[in-house]
Amino acid sequence: MIAHKCPHIQVTIVDVNAARIAAWNSDNLPIYEPGLEEIVKARRGKNLFFDTDVDKAIIEADLIFVSVNTPTKKSGVGAGYAADLFYIELCTRRIASVATSSKIVVEKSTVPCRTASSMRTILEANSRPGLRFDILSNPEFLAEGTAISDLSAPDRVLIGSLGTPEGKAAQAALVEVYANWVPREKVVTTGLWSSELSKLAANALLAQRISSINALSAICEATGADVDEVAHAVGLDQRIGSRFLKASVGFGGSCFQKDILNLVYLSESLHLPEVADYWRQITTMNEYQKRRFSQRVITSLFNTITGKKIAVLGFAFKKDTGDTRESPAATVCKHFLDESAKVSIYDPKVPESQIWLDLTVPGVQDGEEQVKKQVTICDSAMQAALGAEGIVVATEWDEFKTLDWQAVYESMAKPAYVPISPSLSLVGAELTSTENSFIFDGRGILDADKLKAIGFKVFTIGRGEEI
Ligand code: UDX
Repeated sequence: MIAHKCPHIQVTIVDVNAARIAAWNSDNLPIYEPGLEEIVKARRGKNLFFDTDVDKAIIEADLIFVSVNTPTKKSGVGAGYAADLFYIELCTRRIASVATSSKIVVEKSTVPCRTASSMRTILEANSRPGLRFDILSNPEFLAEGTAISDLSAPDRVLIGSLGTPEGKAAQAALVEVYANWVPREKVVTTGLWSSELSKLAANALLAQRISSINALSAICEATGADVDEVAHAVGLDQRIGSRFLKASVGFGGSCFQKDILNLVYLSESLHLPEVADYWRQITTMNEYQKRRFSQRVITSLFNTITGKKIAVLGFAFKKDTGDTRESPAATVCKHFLDESAKVSIYDPKVPESQIWLDLTVPGVQDGEEQVKKQVTICDSAMQAALGAEGIVVATEWDEFKTLDWQAVYESMAKPAYVPISPSLSLVGAELTSTENSFIFDGRGILDADKLKAIGFKVFTIGRGEEI
């Protein structure tokens, strides 16, 4: 976006992963994001460059954005909660050792509060004499699938700095970059720590809304209320607002879970156990929602899905992205596999190799073989539904709304036989046909009435109708 909006600024993106840089320089960009390809192709080779020469880029830059991964730690102190700052530290050390002139270093990755302080210590301790490094925090608030519009018209841009004259000057320099396209009043300047914490706080509050509406969806299903009606009614209160109140099979994505766990870890390390428990409950509710949904599929299909074919439509964590990190679809598929179901999966953007990666445990050969026996990856929703007993909508892709559901209905397995009673089934007689195919709408995007008219049995998340 900087390259697009500021033709006078040269933007060089460097990475140690040569394959990824090659992809950025090719016709097939390594990620799918609506509108991104046009911008990259328009600016590439003019003022936008992708390169593996990290040192050269550091030496030439006036301003360096550090945008590396900060995954949740898998081992050691804070495992399962704290952010792993290995890559941040590696980058910072590299900048310190390579730079031959003063730099403004911008912390772009989402990091725990006070990371900037550690970066400053590393830079000051390891740099050549006479060089200045000013650290800024500039968290990114874009959401996947809408990244281009979020970046070109952001609700706000947040830039945190130290309160020193040098810190303020660095902050002003970055404000100037954004001022090329963002109205000044939307560029918010704060202290470093407020900026770092604001990013975690924003994600925690957003995820909290989803867990709140999902908690209400369970009450709706048990009472006969409709969660969309409830969300609409409460969202009209301007203090609450209507956005981000869509009940779902659970939230996913690379940020929410990680950032909340980060906040939990921070609270615990600050000796605030009640605060830690409060935030932790958001992820507990999310796990419950995914499990509750899978369980609903199983009970509806007569309490067993062993050997039954279930079509899962959507594998990305939300529509308009090929990203599957923390995708609720993957969790739900794993629940079905644990119950020995056959699962056919279709997603318009997720590559087949990614689905295999997400469903298999790396290095466990038997597990991989078993998954390949149970899972089929399909090229269309229609193909996935062929012969299935249940269809699960796990991602809210628009194309699912306009599928030819009549044709889908006709292609599904029918009838599903249910023994009238265990004793009768023993003698193999008197089987009754339900003459129904099941749809489990985990995103509340389908027109349930139309589907019922076709003959489907429909369950929609947060709707208290019996199926
Ligand atoms: C999020 C934040 O929105 C963004 O500001 C931050 O920079 C990164 O994290 P992202 O993870 O890309 O962005 O997607 P988002 O649109 O927030 O959705 C996250 C998850 O919540 C998705 O799985 C989505 O399907 C789910 N969701 C969202 C709901 O279940 N209901 C809603 O009402 C909104």
